[in-house]
Amino acid sequence: MNTLNGKHIVLGITGGIAAYKSAELTRRLRDAGAQVRVVMTHGATGFVTPLTFQALSANPVHTELLDEAAEAGMGHIELARWADAILIAPASANSMAKLAQGRADDLLTTLCLASEAPLALAPAMNHVMWSDAATQDNSSILQQRGVHLFGPASGSQACGETGEGRMLDVPELIDALSGLFKSGVLQDINVLVTAGPTWEPIDPVRFIGNRSSGRMGFALARAAREAGANVTLISGPSSEATPEDVHRIDVETAAQMYEAVIQQVRHNQVFISAAAVADYRPKTASAQKLKKHDAELSIELERTEDIVSAVAGSSTRPFVVGFAAETENIETNARTKLKNKALDMIAANRVGKDANAQDIGFNSEYNALHVIWTDGEQVLEQARKTTLARELINLVAHQYNKNRQHEKNTA
Ligand code: C5P
Repeated sequence: MNTLNGKHIVLGITGGIAAYKSAELTRRLRDAGAQVRVVMTHGATGFVTPLTFQALSANPVHTELLDEAAEAGMGHIELARWADAILIAPASANSMAKLAQGRADDLLTTLCLASEAPLALAPAMNHVMWSDAATQDNSSILQQRGVHLFGPASGSQACGETGEGRMLDVPELIDALSGLFKSGVLQDINVLVTAGPTWEPIDPVRFIGNRSSGRMGFALARAAREAGANVTLISGPSSEATPEDVHRIDVETAAQMYEAVIQQVRHNQVFISAAAVADYRPKTASAQKLKKHDAELSIELERTEDIVSAVAGSSTRPFVVGFAAETENIETNARTKLKNKALDMIAANRVGKDANAQDIGFNSEYNALHVIWTDGEQVLEQARKTTLARELINLVAHQYNKNRQHEKNTA
């Protein structure tokens, strides 16, 4: 997830051969939409020229603490205030020692002292220097003060030796830095979503299914992930692509979905049941393909487990959101379900045709939702399921956080 868009990043570069990787890092930061200002120590300019970073960052490179031209433009205090984050990559053993001591004898260390922005270091040094007790102590001191350490990694080093001390690769650094800006409405909350239809076998080739495409559930999984949640998606048969960074578990029948949900749900704080789970299944599935003999065929059906009710009725229940797909009396039926299934929230939708005779609800790009919870409601007008999913996730997050706050206050 890109959280770096529009962010002001001061990229500090200290003297180390890994400085060449920081040229690529500057490009990738800009690709992610960040504005980058590079500050180099004198040691760093021996490895890569300031001109390289000026061209890549599209900003002047800062090297001097007391530089009339720089102070007239953006001096160290302005630079310290401008930064949303300071990343020092590579961070040498010397720079870590100076930061641990709170020294301010060059532009970069002074800037770090003068800034309230989060500070991250990507150490890069020979493995013996990294494992030296002094460096290890400095690294602990810095971490205790809230400085973020990205790496180092293990592997072959520029000095020809192998060990811990390699600077992290550029994509890893970009990921780690974006992590500092994550603040979605469901940040770090575990969310379990079910989606799609279930298929209940009649015989090896036939089943009872429904028209659900899985789109709404998949859009909800994606929206929850975008909101910072760790998302597990349990899906019935669906051709939808798995949203990025979402853990997907495929099932076919209601019984399999029940098993998977029960196994997963205890790790989750929010459960969104968007699947169109079959209410009935053939009592027995024939082991062989049924042959046509008689004019009529009866298949005895039995009820499936009501998954959402089971979750809502459990002792360690998460925040439970159900769906009510209806063809009539939408609101009344939804309110009854909210109560009977002991849900925290229900999203009711009409399945069928809209005013322009377009399909909405099942197997359609579009939907419209009437969201009801114990002491409130909101109508989400007809829109693409991706848009509606974001709106619904915001409502879920709001109610979930409100409940959590209430629990804290009454604990
Ligand atoms: O009772 P009804 O099927 O209309 O309720 C719909 C809600 O219940 C949806 O959230 C659906 O995912 C859930 N459900 C379930 N297990 C079933 C049937 C429905 O979790 N067997």
